[in-house]
Amino acid sequence: MPQQQNAVRLPLTLALADRYLELTSPERESKFHYIWLRDNCWCEECRVAQSAERRIYTADIPPDIAPAEAHLDHDAATIHLRWNDGHSSSFSVWWLAANDYSNGAEEPSPKVTLWTSDLGSPPRFEHGAVVGRPDVQLAYLDAMREYGAAIVTRTPSVDGEVARFAEVVGHVRETAFERVHNVRHDPQGYNVAHTPLELKPHTDLPSYHWPPSIQLLHFLVNESTGGESTLVDGWSVLADLRRDNPDAFDILCRVPVTFQLFSEDEDTRATAPLVQLDTSGRVQTLRFSNQLALPLHAPFEDVGEFYDAYQLLGKMIDSDYYKIVFKCNTGDLLTVHSHRVLHGRKAFDPVSGARHLQDVYMEWDDLMDRHNVLSGTHKPTPSTGVDLA
Ligand code: OGA
Ligand code: ZN
Ligand code: ZN
Repeated sequence: MPQQQNAVRLPLTLALADRYLELTSPERESKFHYIWLRDNCWCEECRVAQSAERRIYTADIPPDIAPAEAHLDHDAATIHLRWNDGHSSSFSVWWLAANDYSNGAEEPSPKVTLWTSDLGSPPRFEHGAVVGRPDVQLAYLDAMREYGAAIVTRTPSVDGEVARFAEVVGHVRETAFERVHNVRHDPQGYNVAHTPLELKPHTDLPSYHWPPSIQLLHFLVNESTGGESTLVDGWSVLADLRRDNPDAFDILCRVPVTFQLFSEDEDTRATAPLVQLDTSGRVQTLRFSNQLALPLHAPFEDVGEFYDAYQLLGKMIDSDYYKIVFKCNTGDLLTVHSHRVLHGRKAFDPVSGARHLQDVYMEWDDLMDRHNVLSGTHKPTPSTGVDLA
């Protein structure tokens, strides 16, 4: 663990407070609650050896747990504790430094690059290489994580190929509508996507409380005039809105909107604010679909302010400053993180040439599962500091 070893410098001193242990190095003082340490013991009694899952039942740890004895072995950079319940645990100081929660440090998050129309077009990767070469697949997954969008080129124009690709990098997320979703001019279709009309940038299926977090759009053929694709980085728009107009941002986080998508056989509905934050206050999900929003049913005093904010957001989303416009070729498979990036298209002329897409949805967690395994970061480091076999 070379990078962890740089994180702390010996000499260290150890002190025991009432409910926590203090570890002091020349750079910092770190504190670890006894209950937290006892909960993270990595001995065979406390962990399932073959899976590294917790075996000790946290609720059974005595609330007055504390070390009866504590010893810092400088040579081995290890702390040995004998607890007042008779159990013994050892902790590597490098592991403690890497898991220090007492210095206000947030968990490191992966690199995200917010973009505007300057991006021009999403990063591109060749289908055969993404499917066949782990290094290229990892580069594709990195690009998805950083930009929230990528194009997989030269995807065979074969029925259902998009679902096969989804199963290479994760799994298909099924919804009430077809598993593999045909998008082409269809006067009987249940969705505005089946018309030749422009589709302003939107996110699909806001009518689910958890909309699909990835959308794949495979251009089996794209020979009509028009129909250029558009993408907008919703997180970039929201970062600017939050900075310049925090009240507008707040009301979008607060007022619930109901969305509906239905067909002859299905009816999906969900009510949620357009913007949802994670527990650190970062934007997690943007749902935006002008075409699917039902009449707003919010407290009377919020409606005027909501519409001001919603119109501002809609203008930003549809502006040339944020929107990239590019034509997908036959064989392009456009993939987007759809809790972040909005997609759309310009109007097209259905008599000028064939245009047929197949879409599937996926979940971001499955894509990141693939990323973690390919980058070899899926096995935890034991708190004793010994690598798992
Ligand atoms: C969709 C969609 C865009 C296009 O299928 O959800 O927005 O290019 N289609 O037709
Ligand atoms: Zn133990
Ligand atoms: Zn769509």
